[in-house]
Amino acid sequence: MLNLDLTEEQQLLEQTVREWAARAVAPKIRELDRAHQFDRGILPQMAALGLLGISVPQTYGGAGMDYIALGLASEELEYVDTSLRVILSVHSGLNCLTLLSWGTEDLKQRYLVPQAQGKKIATFGLTEPSAGSDARGIQSVAIRKGDRYYLTGEKIWISLGDVADNFLVFAWSDLEKKKQRDPNGISAFIVERAFKGFASGTLKEKWGILAGNTGFFTMEEVEVPQENLVGREGEGFKIAMFALDQGRYTVAAGATGLIRACRDASATYAKERKTFSVEIGRHQLVKEMIAQMESDYQASRLLWLRAGWLKNIGRRSTRETGLAKWFSTVASERAASDAVQIHGANGYSDEYPVGRFYRNCKGAVIYEGTREIHKLMQADYVLGYRSDRPTRCDLPAFLIED
Ligand code: CAA
Repeated sequence: MLNLDLTEEQQLLEQTVREWAARAVAPKIRELDRAHQFDRGILPQMAALGLLGISVPQTYGGAGMDYIALGLASEELEYVDTSLRVILSVHSGLNCLTLLSWGTEDLKQRYLVPQAQGKKIATFGLTEPSAGSDARGIQSVAIRKGDRYYLTGEKIWISLGDVADNFLVFAWSDLEKKKQRDPNGISAFIVERAFKGFASGTLKEKWGILAGNTGFFTMEEVEVPQENLVGREGEGFKIAMFALDQGRYTVAAGATGLIRACRDASATYAKERKTFSVEIGRHQLVKEMIAQMESDYQASRLLWLRAGWLKNIGRRSTRETGLAKWFSTVASERAASDAVQIHGANGYSDEYPVGRFYRNCKGAVIYEGTREIHKLMQADYVLGYRSDRPTRCDLPAFLIED
């Protein structure tokens, strides 16, 4: 039997995150956004709520909740501001869940446990100045000497790049395979900010998600012990793709929250504002936009719920996660644009939140697989050019216990 009801635990989580974000963040988000300020004080609060280790088992310091809970939290956080959901995407999704599935017990103890407890903040480093969609195009290298790797390269557009303590980094460990662009020459490593040769900065010129930190980092022969290799040598590309299955899931659920925020703000405004002697909500063209937001919200939610359900039962969800991410981020752009339109000139003013929603939505149509990459992937699944057979680490270990 199909059951779309949330469990009591999931409902409680949804309610808790909703209330916290409304109370602790919503009142100050406009000022943070205006000041381009990432509020570090939010991190311990998220840790106290268990969000930084939400789907990590309790034995590894996490809250031991399932993937649906991760999606619900993402939705609630982005309902208030995209910058909050981004924290969950890179720390809990891309980094922690990947360590959980691919890390050795030693890596889990040294990195996953403090991260899940919120004592350390983590992110992910794949994108480089010359390699975004073309993930095989990265140039970073990891040269092995004895029991150490020496990493050199530059990563950019890294959410929390100037904040995080730990980084899941991808680099070529096989230079022959690099020449042939054979992804089996890429490896994954945990790099600490404290390692010599590591430096980071914040990107100042972006125009959306202004209350979030987006940075870059450089590595100059950063010495990394071989114990910090994640998975086996040469498995880095698969690990990056696995990580993106988790990150994209949070992006999809987050964009769903953004659509709901646009819908709610539009409905409130449409009942307050009058033109031609009636509330603007009485005008059919306004109703049309609100109806579109509602259908986009409901469809997006079903798509991420399906992806979360597949993850919960340990099945690979690359295809379903990608579809959810593509659909909901594009729909969030439509919803934000229409929300501004419904607000008219007020929508063009910073006094109302919809202008921020409009600036914030665009990033997710670009990062973690552009709209175009996702279209190509979906077409390739239908055409049979891409397979979604199980991979070595499909089963999320966090469901096995607790
Ligand atoms: N899980 C496990 N393994 C996977 C996988 C997954 N989800 N996806 C692919 N693989 C495996 C494949 O099975 C394949 O292995 P086999 O050869 O053994 O079958 C191998 O990895 C290669 O996969 P593909 O053939 O799919 O590789 P591709 O080169 O065709 O991929 C692409 C092309 C889909 C466009 C990919 O390059 C891609 O997703 N690009 C977008 C990258 C992206 O989203 N970047 C954003 C990063 S976000 C960031 O860095 C910033 C930040 O703030 C964190």
